[in-house]
Amino acid sequence: MSAKIAVFPGDGIGPEVTAEAIACLQTLDQQAGLGLEFEEAIIGGHAIDEYGEALPAKAVDLARGADGALLGAVGGPKWDDPNAKVRPEQALLGLRKELELFANLRPVKPVDALVSASTLKEEVVKGVDILVIRELTGGIYFGEPSERRNGAKGREAVDTLFYTEGEIERVVEVAFDLAKGRNNKVTSVDKANVLSSSRLWREVAAEVAGKHPEVKFENLLVDAMAMHLISRPREFDVIVTENMFGDILTDEAAMLPGSMGLLPSASLGTRRGTREVGGQSRPVIFGLYEPIHGSAPDIAGKGVANPLAMILSSAMMLRTSLGADEAAARLEGAVEKALADGLRTGDLARSGEKALSTSQMGNAVRERIVG
Ligand code: IPM
Ligand code: MN
Repeated sequence: MSAKIAVFPGDGIGPEVTAEAIACLQTLDQQAGLGLEFEEAIIGGHAIDEYGEALPAKAVDLARGADGALLGAVGGPKWDDPNAKVRPEQALLGLRKELELFANLRPVKPVDALVSASTLKEEVVKGVDILVIRELTGGIYFGEPSERRNGAKGREAVDTLFYTEGEIERVVEVAFDLAKGRNNKVTSVDKANVLSSSRLWREVAAEVAGKHPEVKFENLLVDAMAMHLISRPREFDVIVTENMFGDILTDEAAMLPGSMGLLPSASLGTRRGTREVGGQSRPVIFGLYEPIHGSAPDIAGKGVANPLAMILSSAMMLRTSLGADEAAARLEGAVEKALADGLRTGDLARSGEKALSTSQMGNAVRERIVG
């Protein structure tokens, strides 16, 4: 059974890290016969240059017809004009919205070999195992109106934070489902002391929690969460929150493992199915997999970006969209081994430590994939 993978390398370091992830997937494919077929489409800044729009319809079609999709990163200074009508980020937001990828899973689990790479103390970071679930297709990212205009007092601008109960309910349900396979605890994060949308969020989250009495449940305000995330991160299991809070908290959470270059993500929607793997029928969900880091224009083209977040994102794809759990575990194992062997890209290397290039790190992971 073949598996179609849509590939969107994007801009900046996106193509560099994507190439390493694909090479790892090909190595696994040779070992395990996963039947992977890759098809690429241009999105983001490069698509603006080529087609005048960030997300050409054929890119969306490619994703719709695929079993899973990989995305590097989009954006860069070339397309940063604040007055531009088209922006690379529209590709990302458009794919999320068009494919209804409402649940963005961002696991934060520092590997032991890197605990010292964190800016935080070892005793705070060691043993952290958090899954942040960020609502991805609603909230202030998509609410209308969202515009800049001229008003009676001069220039003004508005964005709208809007949620329906259904949008909240479905993402909080995902949090409770996943908590059951983990440490059985959900923390819902909002700003219910100020925002109406957060008060609705809290109300609906409590209703969902009521249906899962076996899972521990708590609410935290987002400002307090920002503090607790770095003072007592070990006490959290699944954290669920709205779109923008999740965006901000996960960049902060990236500092627990020590680098943005390590954090993968999976954006899941409603398209589900089953796949035959090794004679077994496994449930799968279509997803878009991307590192949480951006296009890093400052290091783009230099071949020094850390490919591990992208490689770990492709491991999440193997597990969640292809049902290839064993291959996913082998890939994650290879990443851990490379780090345990002391291999570091520039973002992780301490002074005096040798920094590998993107492709050297990719090769090192591939060499450690054992069948
Ligand atoms: C992310 C990114 C995006 C977001 C940007 C590039 C639009 O920061 O995936 O976290 O804000 O969602
Ligand atoms: Mn972000």
